[in-house]
Amino acid sequence: MRWLARKYGIEIQERQLTAEEQAEQTERESLSNLATWAQKWFTAQLLETGEGKSVGLGYLRKRDFTDATLQDFAVGYCPERPWSEEGALAEAAKKAGYQEKWLLSSGLCRKRDDNSLYDFYRGRVIFPIRDVTGRFIGFGGRTLKTDKKAPKYVNSPESPLYDKSRALYGIHLSRNAIVREDRAILVEGYTDVMAMRQAGVENVVASSGTALTVEQVRLLRRFSKRMTMLFDGDPAGLRAAIRGVDIVLGEGLDVKVAVLPDGEDPDTFAKRLGKDAMVEWLAENSRDFIRFKIDLLDKEAADDPIKRTELVRSVVQSIAQVPDELKRTVYVQESAGRLGMQVEDLLAELGRQAVARLEKEAKAPLPSLTPKKDAPIGAPRLTGRVGRSGREQDLLRLLLQYGRHKITIEVPSEEAAPEGENEEPMTIEGTLAEFMIHELDMVGLAIRHPVVDRIVQHFRESIVAGHIPGPEDLGITDPEVVELTADVLVSEFTLSKNWFERHGIEPETEEQQLKRALEGALHRLLLDEARGEGYRIKARLQELSEDPSTSEDPASEEVDLLRRKIGVSKRVSKLALHFESTILHNMSAEDAKKTR
Ligand code: CTP
Ligand code: MN
Repeated sequence: MRWLARKYGIEIQERQLTAEEQAEQTERESLSNLATWAQKWFTAQLLETGEGKSVGLGYLRKRDFTDATLQDFAVGYCPERPWSEEGALAEAAKKAGYQEKWLLSSGLCRKRDDNSLYDFYRGRVIFPIRDVTGRFIGFGGRTLKTDKKAPKYVNSPESPLYDKSRALYGIHLSRNAIVREDRAILVEGYTDVMAMRQAGVENVVASSGTALTVEQVRLLRRFSKRMTMLFDGDPAGLRAAIRGVDIVLGEGLDVKVAVLPDGEDPDTFAKRLGKDAMVEWLAENSRDFIRFKIDLLDKEAADDPIKRTELVRSVVQSIAQVPDELKRTVYVQESAGRLGMQVEDLLAELGRQAVARLEKEAKAPLPSLTPKKDAPIGAPRLTGRVGRSGREQDLLRLLLQYGRHKITIEVPSEEAAPEGENEEPMTIEGTLAEFMIHELDMVGLAIRHPVVDRIVQHFRESIVAGHIPGPEDLGITDPEVVELTADVLVSEFTLSKNWFERHGIEPETEEQQLKRALEGALHRLLLDEARGEGYRIKARLQELSEDPSTSEDPASEEVDLLRRKIGVSKRVSKLALHFESTILHNMSAEDAKKTR
């Protein structure tokens, strides 16, 4: 059920709501009823009143919007009233039975000092904002006045109904086209979305003035993993583009960037070109994000070595966002060529940034195991989970899903053969479960999550007894195990074939993928362990300097701690660099023989 619900974007309620949540739900319903009513009222004002027709409709016609477009987007108008009077919407809403408190918290009305209400959107054209299923959740209003004092657009405030970071303007109209074209086009504004749809390009959404958020990207990812970001060519637009790109990459999407000619926005451009020319222009002018970033920054950097360093760092930073390791490698190779640098140097920089990122992650609180209501939507990534418990669950997923898969590991000859003997490399065959448990035991790595640990222990005992358990053998009687395994198995580990084809690379075999996944999962845990030790050493050193009496021999303990600290940081940087290479970590010959 969870899997289906995520796939189709349905929220499922997994438990009884708390009183607080119930209140929030009631609030959301009240706000939703009001928004539905207000949209109808705004549209009626636009189409049926003198002021609406002459001022509102007149303006929209001048901008060449057709009736069909206005209807599709449920555009409306809010009349102006003399300042001394109550707002027109306020009056009508009260008459229709809506309570003042909802008028205020929805942001539709505001209160004057004398307690009377005025309309927040007065004298503005209304662009209703809808959620993915088409329900009305908020409003944007554009002023028709040319004086610069009034803001051009005003928007609904955040409320339990309207969450800016999740809203995407136009999504309910464009979702099918996004699936069909397998690509979303992202623009900035309300009118941009409308004009492009009117011109016939329908897979378009807008982030509506705010910088793109992770939640918005996750929403889009449900419909397509490919995105084109269309930006105005002004410097502000380009800066915004650079920021947005990293978020999109970080969510594992393939992203292209297209920059419009000077002085155009998607609205004017779509109206001027029409569909075919627009599609053609997009095809010709969409660039890969690396090309985009390099081209953009290259001009600024020129021969300035400091700026060039920044450029390299910034390109690597984008690459570091890409969750898929193999994709990252390809991007590194491509950008090395374009930047005139050695692949190794870029890899080293990538490794450095990985360490910094992991260190930041380590300070983040551990995520809880039960899905929250704002848990990420879409398939979680195999290696992207944060925190120790997330990494242990990655390991568990591999074990449950692929535990019985056979893999072969090759041990290099110099390790396999005692001196002077047989130089043949040795291969060891086994199941993924066997290799995983063996590795865990060899490096003495303890699983901290009690349920994961119980499952691993079960595997360990079964392996000794000559049997590899599958998900179906597990914990029918242990509800905690059932919950965790269900949770972990909801997401699958896949690599798109498509991507390999487009990049002309031979897909990895399943076995190669498994080995890499196993290695990655183990290494992340090891890194975790090393980092934890690092923190403990640091804390002890601190303690020691503050209060030497806590040690029998402070001087030699300090030397010892410092020595260990150096060892740990060497281990950390070695492991972190390892993530960026695809070399398979082999067991030593001794261990290998034991496994056999
Ligand atoms: N925006 C906003 N508040 C502002 C200005 C802009 O919320 N003061 C948001 C709106 O969602 C707007 C988008 O940013 O649609 C893009 O802004 P802009 O390019 O200025 O507006 P357009 O959509 O081009 O609107 P128009 O064509 O009507 O000028
Ligand atoms: Mn515009």
